[in-house]
Amino acid sequence: MRELKILAVVVALTLVTYWGVEPFAHSQMHPKVAPADFEFKDLTAQTEAVEALKGDVANGQILVTSNCTACHSIESQGFPKVMDNASSAAAYGVTPPDLGTAGKIYNDRYLAAFIQDPATASQTSHKFVDGKVHPMPSYNWMQPQEIADMIAYLKSIAPAEMTNKEVYSDSCQRCHGIKYGDMLNGTMASFTPNDDIKKYMGKLPPDLSQMIRSRGHHYLETFINAPQKHLEGTAMPRVGLNEEAQAQVIAYLEEVGDSKKDERNELGPKFLIYLVIFAIFAWLWKSSKWREVH
Ligand code: HEC
Ligand code: HEC
Repeated sequence: MRELKILAVVVALTLVTYWGVEPFAHSQMHPKVAPADFEFKDLTAQTEAVEALKGDVANGQILVTSNCTACHSIESQGFPKVMDNASSAAAYGVTPPDLGTAGKIYNDRYLAAFIQDPATASQTSHKFVDGKVHPMPSYNWMQPQEIADMIAYLKSIAPAEMTNKEVYSDSCQRCHGIKYGDMLNGTMASFTPNDDIKKYMGKLPPDLSQMIRSRGHHYLETFINAPQKHLEGTAMPRVGLNEEAQAQVIAYLEEVGDSKKDERNELGPKFLIYLVIFAIFAWLWKSSKWREVH
């Protein structure tokens, strides 16, 4: 009888912890935020006119190569970097990304909105006040047809497939290093030198090697798509990736930061089976011993 009472107390305490304390702690440590919005609904008004049009690739090529390649490289189309990373960082605060893959990794609506007004689209307007302006000019003086043409061109040159690492490089590496990506702090260091990016962002963007462990999947899924939801006023821009590209970035963070995850997951069920078999033997052994005693 006494044993049963002890069991009841243990069960009651466990249930209180599981349904009472744990969810409370979780809600404090991970406040609930809306799920990722891959339709970028807040940008609908700016992009309606562009979305209604069909882009012309040939005209888009002329527009992109006469406007954008002043700052951005498009290596795959024979437009190398205008300056090395350090000089472009000194000029713009951050090394502008190569545009060869923009048509593949960014959401179409986001891209249309970003070209017209980078600060609004990336939700960083709060940083560009008191005479400070976003280093990329707004192309809101262009006709919607011209924006549609540029997007059509960027899509036409984008590769059909990209590795997770490539998506990461093109969307995050201008600001973030991920030193475990190569264990040498060499090629996976941030493209922008630390001092410059710190000046541009107000703080050094953290190395992302262990982010998958310290923040977890769920946090990253909502954070990358809208950093302001988690860190109000943060300098990190919304990066505007589409769902597929974002999944690839998170997969890359996992490859680098938690490469043993599959092994671990595989081990779990095996360990449970072992415990069950062990428990059966323990019980059999116990009952044989008691039989001898009585
Ligand atoms: C004066 C230099 C300059 C010009 C010209 C320029 N950009 Fe940019 N662009 C930048 C810089 C700098 C960034 C990075 C800004 C940041 O990360 O805060 C950037 C970022 C981008 C991004 C990444 C957006 C994101 O959310 O990650 C895209 C896409 C882009 N530019 C497209 C274009 C296109 C298309 C054109 C031509 C119509 C263009 N840019 C012209 C400097 C420029
Ligand atoms: C234009 C620069 C820039 C780009 C591009 C950028 N980040 Fe950031 N990121 C920052 C800055 C600055 C911070 C620090 C934010 C803070 O503490 O307020 C940050 C913080 C973070 C954090 C930590 C958030 C936390 O809870 O502390 C994660 C995770 C992250 N970035 C992931 C990414 C990923 C993934 C990408 C690419 C899809 C990316 N970032 C692209 C500038 C950038």
